[in-house]
Amino acid sequence: MNIEIAEEKIIENGFLNLEVDPTLDLFAEIEKLKKEKNAIVLAHFYQEPDIQDVADYIGDSLGLAQKAQSTNADMIVFAGVHFMAETAKILNPSKKVLLPDLKAGCSLADSAPKDLFKAFKDKHSDHLVISYINCSADIKALSDIICTSSNAEAIINSVPADQPIIFAPDKNLGAYLNKKTGRNMLLWNGACMVHEIFSLEKITKLKIRHPEAQLIAHPECEEAILRISDYTGSTTQLLKYSVASDCNTFIVATETGILHQMQKNAPNKTFIPAPPTNNCACNDCPYMKLNTLEKLYLCIKYELPEILMDENLRIASKIPIDRMLEISRAAGLIGG
Ligand code: 13P
Ligand code: SF4
Repeated sequence: MNIEIAEEKIIENGFLNLEVDPTLDLFAEIEKLKKEKNAIVLAHFYQEPDIQDVADYIGDSLGLAQKAQSTNADMIVFAGVHFMAETAKILNPSKKVLLPDLKAGCSLADSAPKDLFKAFKDKHSDHLVISYINCSADIKALSDIICTSSNAEAIINSVPADQPIIFAPDKNLGAYLNKKTGRNMLLWNGACMVHEIFSLEKITKLKIRHPEAQLIAHPECEEAILRISDYTGSTTQLLKYSVASDCNTFIVATETGILHQMQKNAPNKTFIPAPPTNNCACNDCPYMKLNTLEKLYLCIKYELPEILMDENLRIASKIPIDRMLEISRAAGLIGG
């Protein structure tokens, strides 16, 4: 197999659709390739457990962005979705950034197309634009400051109270932040398909069946879920809270991948995934779950698919991310 052949296949499918010998120990092979190529595997908490177990760093969007910026590795293999790998490339352009499946997108990022968003922004030209990191580089380039669920409150509070703000693209996170900060930010009408699927009725029934359990929820969830949650936070915050809390049972309203780290860090506690409205596994993110151990192995081996960016767009989209990192540092939310 040579790289030219691999490249042809990538154009068709978004990933290297090659057979992997089923007798291979992929964990050992990936470790070997990482050393050979001085590669680092960064994984989001929503990745499947096997991928989390071979990763060098597992984190939320803020932690992953920081790690991508500070790594000394020559190659960043991003086990996450496209906007995350793109952010890694924006922050660290001299590295080769790889994503096992280029079709690993994000419904929330897709909910803000560039032209529509530009028109919306132009209509409210006196507004400052704060965008959630779950958006394309085009939207980042149209934004003044980026935020993640870990630092959004601090970012908003850093802006003078009388400054009108557009918050995009997540209306649920935006509404939650309006409530927390007392602002009246103008919200773009986007949402995450995974966090909108939780059933209030089924969660209420679960809470009655497990009166000892606490409901913990990601702020991308709808207001009705957040209203009854005992704790709301980013994936890292949910993980830390559940491990440190005196409570032993949690109903977890976010993507199911996070349960792997919760269970690993608190093996004696019980974590129940919050139920979706129907019986499908729709609280699994279909984009995050496009990555598999086989695709990850092929990706490191053939160094494809690679994230490539227009340099002007990269520079423009880096400005609001740098502002985010600066404010986060000043607020003591990140080191360095
Ligand atoms: P965080 O891990 O930053 O909380 O983001 C959650 C998410 O939806 C990522 O796609
Ligand atoms: Fe996007 Fe939602 Fe999937 Fe996160 S969980 S990547 S916000 S679709």
